[in-house]
Amino acid sequence: MAIDYDIKDPSLADGGRYRIEWAAKEMPVLRLIRERFEKERPLEGVRMSACLHITAETANLARTLQAGGADLVLTASNPLSTQDDVAASLVTHFEIPVYAIKGEDDETYYDHIRAAISHRPHITMDDGADLVSTLHKDYTELLPEVIGGTEETTTGVIRLRAMAKEGALKFPVIAVNDSMTKHLFDNRYGTGQSTIDGIVRATNILIAGKTVVVAGYGWCSRGIAMRAKGMGANVIVTEVDPLKALEAVMDGYRVMPMMEAAPIGDIFVTATGDINVIDTHHIEAMKDGAIVANSGHFNVEINLSGLREMAVEEPELVRPFVERYRLANGKTVHILGEGRLVNLAAAEGHPASVMDMSFANQALASEFMLQNAKTLENTVYTIPEALDMEIARLKLEAMGIKIDKLTPEQEAYLNEWRAGTWCAWTRSPGVLRRMRAGA
Ligand code: NAI
Repeated sequence: MAIDYDIKDPSLADGGRYRIEWAAKEMPVLRLIRERFEKERPLEGVRMSACLHITAETANLARTLQAGGADLVLTASNPLSTQDDVAASLVTHFEIPVYAIKGEDDETYYDHIRAAISHRPHITMDDGADLVSTLHKDYTELLPEVIGGTEETTTGVIRLRAMAKEGALKFPVIAVNDSMTKHLFDNRYGTGQSTIDGIVRATNILIAGKTVVVAGYGWCSRGIAMRAKGMGANVIVTEVDPLKALEAVMDGYRVMPMMEAAPIGDIFVTATGDINVIDTHHIEAMKDGAIVANSGHFNVEINLSGLREMAVEEPELVRPFVERYRLANGKTVHILGEGRLVNLAAAEGHPASVMDMSFANQALASEFMLQNAKTLENTVYTIPEALDMEIARLKLEAMGIKIDKLTPEQEAYLNEWRAGTWCAWTRSPGVLRRMRAGA
């Protein structure tokens, strides 16, 4: 069957397949879901358009949805995050239409999103909400066909909640990001490791002894701070939220405004979901040769247009993914991965083991959406806690880790408000029974 697609080069497919198989080894929970989906076919005939980073891990999610019977197309959720060999393998080996080319310009990026929308999805799957927002802005005639959607990341969830608040959201969406088995692991350990990986691959710089300034102390940024500290960096955290700032202080980091950190830092990383967190006045105050990267969803966290205006000449690409800007004050600054998600631009994104849980959530969320859409309103939901816990249980099982179970006595104790101290409890074993009987 000939399928429509737009990828870099189909001849890269074999390399992509190795990558997909390599990732699959670390994704046991998704494999279990795939095996069940193969038997039960819960997504039979459902048209799905997914706007995700086109990586080996996403390919394993795509295989799972396909196994469930979905009629799926994929488009990139970022112009720089596509693994072209994986895209080729998805098209060639799995017959899944993909619209994604690493390094595509913004126009092609949106053309690809439009190609995915022309699939007339029943279910949307988004990472950053570009697909859902384009659908709502430019394809209102297709909205009645959409049953619901799922959203992968913090920034997308924020956008969707804003849409729901305005009454603009026309179908229910599940915020996969808000599952515990997503943000506690993917955002923290995934972004933590892969962001450092991206910086190191791009620069080959020694982290030990460097001053690393991390903007934000949310789930992603605390992971980055933790990993940079573990590699011997002196870490400074900047925040706007007093609670998060306090946590950072008590976790042992120096906390200060970006303007104070600017002249001290060697490496800067943003992961806030916010705009112009590193602005031109910060860049002007930085040391000569400072390295600046972003791991937040959009390339808005560093004021790149301001930097381009400040620069005395066009930036030079001094290494892959490293652009050097010369400033009028005689200093230089290096921007990694064009200010886009450095872990996906300059490295391979999150390791498969955490994406196993994120994408288990995606797969179960799409099944849940299909089963429950009729009773859901046009707003943003989280996945039911029982599914979240089930993913955690399966992950532990796959890792060969056993945990304790509550004994009946413990269960009763935890549900009993009358029992007080340990002594009263243990010395009077009949107390609980009597209390529960209301005696
Ligand atoms: P979060 O909401 O847990 O944390 C964001 C933190 O940034 C908050 O504590 C907030 O107070 C702080 N912040 C906001 N404006 C700030 C400013 N001007 N200066 C300093 N701190 C500021 O969000 P989370 O989950 O950590 O996500 C952050 C971003 O990373 C989002 O854009 C999200 O979509 C993206 N993301 C990226 C991933 C990747 O692969 N690189 C993976 C997951 C999420």
